Amino acid sequence: MHNSQPWRWRIGPREIQLYADSQRHLAATDPDRRDLLLSCGAALHHLRVALAARGLSADIRRLPDPEDGTHLATVTVRPGGEPADLALFPAIAERRTDRRRMSRRPVPDEHLNALVERAAGNGATLVPVSRPAMRRQLLAAIVTAERLQREEAGYASELRMWTNRLPGGRDGVPAANVAAPPIGTLDPSPLRRFGRAGLAQAVQVAGHGRGDDAAELLVVTTAGDEIVDRLRAGEATSAVLLAATRIGLATTPLSQAMEIGSSRLQVQRDVLGSRSSPSSSSASAGRPLVRRRCPRHLAASSAPSSSGDRLRAAPGRHHTGP
Ligand SMILES: Cc1cc2nc3c(=O)[nH]c(=O)nc-3n(C[C@H](O)[C@H](O)[C@H](O)COP(=O)(O)O)c2cc1C
Repeated sequence: MHNSQPWRWRIGPREIQLYADSQRHLAATDPDRRDLLLSCGAALHHLRVALAARGLSADIRRLPDPEDGTHLATVTVRPGGEPADLALFPAIAERRTDRRRMSRRPVPDEHLNALVERAAGNGATLVPVSRPAMRRQLLAAIVTAERLQREEAGYASELRMWTNRLPGGRDGVPAANVAAPPIGTLDPSPLRRFGRAGLAQAVQVAGHGRGDDAAELLVVTTAGDEIVDRLRAGEATSAVLLAATRIGLATTPLSQAMEIGSSRLQVQRDVLGSRSSPSSSSASAGRPLVRRRCPRHLAASSAPSSSGDRLRAAPGRHHTGP
């Protein structure tokens, strides 16, 4: 979420344990710990991809200890990497959360279908919210969540804390990764308002009409809403973000509508048309307008150029995760 990296790894000779790090839980922003578990799920999927790149596969036991809800997974490492995971490996280093305006050219159906398949392969369902009426409903839910969150005690201070990390810190969302809202849009922005923006917005070409982009809004859902479902939703979200990156799309996770109970219900009812209680995460994916992706600001001092560096650092606080 605010790049809080709420996970802990315990690494043994053949097994890797994943724990949720409650000290990095953002209680006001994420009261039901959905984002925390989604983040851990995404980290778990990144691990699987990284192992595949070393010719290894991950045998994952989720929630191995029924007495400990923070012990999220035991990963047994075996020979033989999955080709589907391996294909995503370069995207670990390439992917960035891109909060700039995207292109007005829509995402082709074949790309959306590829992302839907990725989510399915990771135990979740990806719903592209393409129909204009549904899109409007989802945008409305996100905008309402943003308003409600502003009134939530503690939300603003958590945002301040995680957008003003100490120099040299390797977590949080710095102004350098936040773009000011684009000018001349008709649709409300689905982006979280982080405050100070230090990233140049993609230039709007004169005479090309309004500034709305055609980024596709996507919702990842699972059948249930238990800890394991949220973990799965995080894994699938990671798979979708990495696959989108490989295709050349820019992506932005958008979790606000899922952080406020009433907005989440609004999404379930008005967008997904489902009475079940799915664990969801949402994101946008679109064609980038600016070829160069956002700089990985936090890597400035260590400048890891190889994906191997990033892999090694992933369990600690050295790099940002999704
Ligand atoms: C569960 C989850 C929820 C997130 N929600 C949002 C969001 O609502 N808005 C946003 O701009 N970024 C969101 N992010 C993106 C993170 O802020 C971002 O991943 C983090 O700052 C690290 O940057 P990177 O993705 O470029 O590595 C979310 C990420 C995760 C894992």
